[in-house]
Amino acid sequence: MLRRRPRSSATIAALLAALGVGRAQTGPSNAQAALGTPTGSAASRNRHLPMGVPASLCLHGHVAPTILLVGAQKCGSSSLWFDLVTQVEGTLKARPTPGLEPGYFVKEQHFFDQDERFRQGMAFYVSHYPTCTRGARARYAIDATPEYLYFPGMAARVHAAYIGHRRALRVIVIVRNPTDRVLSWYGHIGAWRGHGNLSLDEFVHVSLRELRACAASHGLTTESDELWASPCRRLHPPLYDALTGGLYAPQIAEWLRWFPASQLALVTFGGYIKRTGEVLHDLAAFIGQGRRSGAPAVHARAQAGASKPGARQRQRLAAAHKNSWSMGQAVFNVTVRAALTKFYWPHVDSLIALLHRPVAEHMFSTPFSPASALTARGLIDGTM
Ligand SMILES: *[C@@H]1O[C@H](CO)[C@@H](O)[C@H](O)[C@H]1NC(C)=O
Ligand SMILES: *[C@@H]1O[C@H](CO)[C@@H](O)[C@H](O)[C@H]1NC(C)=O
Repeated sequence: MLRRRPRSSATIAALLAALGVGRAQTGPSNAQAALGTPTGSAASRNRHLPMGVPASLCLHGHVAPTILLVGAQKCGSSSLWFDLVTQVEGTLKARPTPGLEPGYFVKEQHFFDQDERFRQGMAFYVSHYPTCTRGARARYAIDATPEYLYFPGMAARVHAAYIGHRRALRVIVIVRNPTDRVLSWYGHIGAWRGHGNLSLDEFVHVSLRELRACAASHGLTTESDELWASPCRRLHPPLYDALTGGLYAPQIAEWLRWFPASQLALVTFGGYIKRTGEVLHDLAAFIGQGRRSGAPAVHARAQAGASKPGARQRQRLAAAHKNSWSMGQAVFNVTVRAALTKFYWPHVDSLIALLHRPVAEHMFSTPFSPASALTARGLIDGTM
């Protein structure tokens, strides 16, 4: 498994000249200035910030997405996206084409995962973001499409599409207890696609049974990382990939095959919820920017029960939280939760093992650091 190393900046400059594309927005990064980090924050302990190359990039006259919040789906990525675009200086949302693209494309562009969009090329992709302005402050476009993590082959596509600009990319992954993730999946995606009359407990019971059968028919076990890139990744409706979406290790390993660990940031849902300010501060440093001054993050506000939010603010909060909190009140029956937890244990262990491998050594992480400090218990309990 070769890790393709990005080209040197001299090569990049030559390629840029050859392609006739400029970095209109590079300007001096104010990352250093913004790094007045609170003592002990993860940003100050993450010694391998990918700061050599700014995360701002101009392609075809538009600010190109360089911040890829790739998932995992149902792990709080929508809330985190909302916080990044409202809290981090210079971040930009996408602009869906009115009448042609659904409103949520403001967050997720589905460029790499949808063949018909990918075929239209980078000029089409970046046309969904604002135009570059010479001399303006650095701006960073965000694409938060969760399929980029859980569809095999996405990292390779991104790698190919960003030739000459790969070092500008920052890839953010948020993970949570995979058992809780299934609850959220059932409550949101499952409800939307139809549960086929299966209750939550039946759904999990049948999913585990079918996954076991599928694994066996492909010479695999349910403990295998290979399940994710196998035909068992997606079971028949209404089961789909409700379970395999929580196999984080092979999904993250795929990004590490194509990009240096220093361009990846790992966030935990529990850490994000409990230490929102710190996580956003660290991610701002990872992107190479500072926090916007002003209102605290949506999670921080919600957690603190701060000043009663107005109607607009409440709506925005509700929208941002809908995904990660759906089914928050529902519970599995004891037997089903135990079965699911047992299924995920080896996969959580696999993630922890990956974080200890040399390939992951310089991965950025927050609110804990280094990434290898994450423990299985911390992830499962949501305490890290
Ligand atoms: C769910 O149950 C209803 C009523 O029993 C039935 O009409 C419907 O076809 C079922 N749907 C599925 C997807 O099985
Ligand atoms: C939990 O749900 C499963 C699947 O529907 C069922 O077989 C089992 O009897 C339930 N157990 C309890 C304790 O309710």
